[in-house]
Amino acid sequence: MMPSLEAYSLWAETYDRIPNPVLALEERIVAPLLPALERMVALDIACGTGRWLDRMLQRGAAFGAGFDLSGEMLEQARRKPGLRGRLARGDCEAIPLGCGTADLAMCSFLVGYVSNLPQLARELSRIMRERGHLFLSDFHPSARQRGWKRTFRHKETIIEISSSHYSIDEICLALTLEGFELVNRIEPCFGEAERHIFEACGREHLPDESLGPAIFVCHFRKSGKLT
Ligand SMILES: C[S@@+](CC[C@H](N)C(=O)[O-])C[C@H]1O[C@@H](n2cnc3c(N)ncnc32)[C@H](O)[C@@H]1O
Repeated sequence: MMPSLEAYSLWAETYDRIPNPVLALEERIVAPLLPALERMVALDIACGTGRWLDRMLQRGAAFGAGFDLSGEMLEQARRKPGLRGRLARGDCEAIPLGCGTADLAMCSFLVGYVSNLPQLARELSRIMRERGHLFLSDFHPSARQRGWKRTFRHKETIIEISSSHYSIDEICLALTLEGFELVNRIEPCFGEAERHIFEACGREHLPDESLGPAIFVCHFRKSGKLT
């Protein structure tokens, strides 16, 4: 089992290049839920290669920025047109941003790598504006119980990344204790839209839906004055 910082330094180069059904499923679910971004400051928390930052800027965010702990993931993000100058190295447990900065924060596939969940929740709350939107996604905890692992291929080796295991209720509780309201919680399975990715990986069949959800997505709003 490899610590996440070391793992992402190895995975960075291929992270965006190899089609990933888990990321595709998350994008299919989250993209239609995003509010109009035109007047918003949008932050990509643990942005990795800048997947969501790129999308949010393309969808017209007034300002966008991202940070991540991994220099190698950020190096990949900097290669994307439009992201240079918007990226910083930083830890989500001490977010390198001022208080009340974000109208929208994307926290995608991070929480499983965080050892101090209450501290992440405090930091997310600190950087959000009142009524700001937070989207948080990760692998579904039940997928792990069904034998799914956080792995990637590096050269000829399959590497498993060490992670923390929180229930969705624990994550929601940590955020509500810091002033977030849960708006929506979705626990989707793979569908026809992801079939071609599984086929490209040499798998004939989609994972059986009856086995349960692959990921979860939670939409929160920071409590505060309604405008
Ligand atoms: C699965 S990747 C997700 C990247 C991106 N959010 C996405 O969804 O494509 C997890 C990311 O979390 C980052 N990460 C792990 N622990 C972190 C921490 N404490 N602070 C900031 N980033 C962290 C890793 O470097 C990696 O880029």
